Amino acid sequence: MDAQHKVRLEREGSVGVIVIDNPPINAGSAAVRAGLLSAIQAVQADASLQAAILIGAGKTFIAGSDLREFGLRLVEPQLPDVIAAIEACPKPFVAALHGAALGGGFELALGCDARVAAPGTVVGLPEVTLGIIPGAGGTQRLPRIVGVPRAIAMVCSGERVPAAQALQAGLVDDLAASEASLRTAAVARAEALAARGGKRRLRDLPVPESDAAAIEAAAEAALRAGKRRPQVAAAIAAVRSTATLPIDEGLRQEREVFQRLRLGREARALRHQFFAERDSARVPVLQGVAPRSADTVAVLGAGTMGTGIALAALAAGCTVLLIEQDAAALERGTQRIHHHYADRTRAGKLDAAQAHAQQQRLHPGLDWSALAEADLVIEAVFEDLEVKQQVFARIGAIARPGAVLASNTSYLDLDAIANATQRPQDVIGLHFFSPANVMRLLEVVRGAASAPDALATGMAFGRRLGKLPLLTGNAFGFVGNRLYAAYRRQCEFLIEEGAWPGQVDAALQQFGFAMGPFAVADLSGLDIAWRMRQAHAAKRDPAARYVDIPDRLCEAGRLGRKTGAGYYRYSESGERTVDPAVHAVIAQARAVKGIAPRKVDDAEIQRRALLALANEAALLLAEGVAAHPTDVDLALVNGYGFPRWEGGVVFWARERGEQALREDFAWLADVSEPGSRRGDPSVLLSSAG
Ligand code: NAI
Repeated sequence: MDAQHKVRLEREGSVGVIVIDNPPINAGSAAVRAGLLSAIQAVQADASLQAAILIGAGKTFIAGSDLREFGLRLVEPQLPDVIAAIEACPKPFVAALHGAALGGGFELALGCDARVAAPGTVVGLPEVTLGIIPGAGGTQRLPRIVGVPRAIAMVCSGERVPAAQALQAGLVDDLAASEASLRTAAVARAEALAARGGKRRLRDLPVPESDAAAIEAAAEAALRAGKRRPQVAAAIAAVRSTATLPIDEGLRQEREVFQRLRLGREARALRHQFFAERDSARVPVLQGVAPRSADTVAVLGAGTMGTGIALAALAAGCTVLLIEQDAAALERGTQRIHHHYADRTRAGKLDAAQAHAQQQRLHPGLDWSALAEADLVIEAVFEDLEVKQQVFARIGAIARPGAVLASNTSYLDLDAIANATQRPQDVIGLHFFSPANVMRLLEVVRGAASAPDALATGMAFGRRLGKLPLLTGNAFGFVGNRLYAAYRRQCEFLIEEGAWPGQVDAALQQFGFAMGPFAVADLSGLDIAWRMRQAHAAKRDPAARYVDIPDRLCEAGRLGRKTGAGYYRYSESGERTVDPAVHAVIAQARAVKGIAPRKVDDAEIQRRALLALANEAALLLAEGVAAHPTDVDLALVNGYGFPRWEGGVVFWARERGEQALREDFAWLADVSEPGSRRGDPSVLLSSAG
């Protein structure tokens, strides 16, 4: 479509109405920019027009720029040219905002002489979350309204400010009574401005004076929250520059930084994550399938996971029946939930009325017949196939016809669970991550008999909870835990060959992981994996390389933090120190296998950890367990502390390219022998999935 179709100029008396029409979100693209520029020129040239408004057709103003253009050379006119034309035109322009005015959309609005918003609008500058900084004056015009400290906070967090708050802060000048009256309100505002002599450009305002200490504090808080990424520092510098630079110089410098960051690796990685999320929602088998309702949710088991799942469902507005077999466990779980609300309200994160309303929707009980009221049942009892089969046989007999029955199992065979009911078509996996009310990843597991609308219910329910649901196949560990197991195994090889756990953890933290694998193992407890290894001992290939160091640690009672010792030793206050006893266990294990320890450098640790993940991702894709290659990257970032700014392991693999990757995989297989499985890297490289 060409520019004329994306932007049109209508009239309301002496006011030009520039309508942006680029469904679905009116993304700012080359055609939109060209259309805007010619509409602005037409307004300027038309003597019968005194003023103009900019408004979005459909559900929103410009909700953001078209990110597909961001990896390429940007086509003229660029957004600063459009804004310069508005500022240079002697007639006033009013931005009429509804839906979302984000990124370039909000910068365009800041280039106008006034902003009117409909209730429900959000405004903000999320560029930093995409590895860049605002590039069309956001860092220069915003501080002229809210001052430097607040502008730093807004730009660095990418927060979305709701209309009422935006009005209070002066980000918008007026609220329309409703979305229906937005156009009229904006036109009236434009007429009034024209009558009062016209222009009210933000560029002409002085930057309000701020206390140096307040600026410093805002900058430090933003850097900390933003993990000291380069774009955060650049955004702070750009906002701060408004205090000293003339605006034209500030704009020039801002644009230069924007252009440089936009084409950099980190911004590419973050765009990759953005597109991966969009693609994860597009699952061909679920296309057009309507989900069933999931307003009343029964959670079975009030342990760690059950209470977390209950909290997430309560926050999403569901009625929650929390059901246990054990009165004391129910009491503990219920208390945990109430404590959570007390903590949140005390910390000012939730208001008392909301907390009360959410707790009112919680119904704890020991009576299983209550299950009959549930639309969705989520089982979170002990990880034991027999227990789960008994529980599902019982749920199947009580739940109403059509209710979706979900298991939170981490590793068990979903089909074996589903077949314990008379209705396996209603059974799916909903694999939450701990803490379930916090972690964003949710695996929606597809059993052999799972009905598409049961799966669609799981996906929709996940989104309602604010999670990132990924559809996975029913295979041991699904996607996430299987990737993680391969990664951890490779790290165990490394300590057997000569690295110490502390070195491996430090090298991977250096790469950007939130925690190293051995610190993670101590935190979650070494006994879970130990029990699993024991359960699967018979199935293990006896010829395959097996590191028995964790078994030795468990046998010595070192189960991790909870026993005060694991791969590390922990003080009463939880402080972590290296333990010579662990080094002795490792040295002994090497000696038994006749391995002469060698020096392993940090680069090798990082390379082998990434390759182990990439190789496992290739195997998962070849087996059809992951739906899209990029789902792997979403799982790693949202469930396992992989640094978002590195994009994920598929992003990494694509950057390396096929030939290098083939050689890498061969090398990895070599160093992991005997019994290693080698994936075909080509499945990671195709973007179709
Ligand atoms: P937990 O031991 O904290 O809680 C399990 C609860 O289920 C206990 O309160 C127990 O009384 C109750 N329960 C046991 N049998 C029951 C029955 N027949 N009927 C009703 N209630 C029963 O266990 P956790 O950690 O919450 O794990 C639950 C499930 O979630 C397991 O399948 C586990 O693999 C899975 N999971 C655990 C994660 C974790 O990090 N803890 C992460 C993801 C999944």
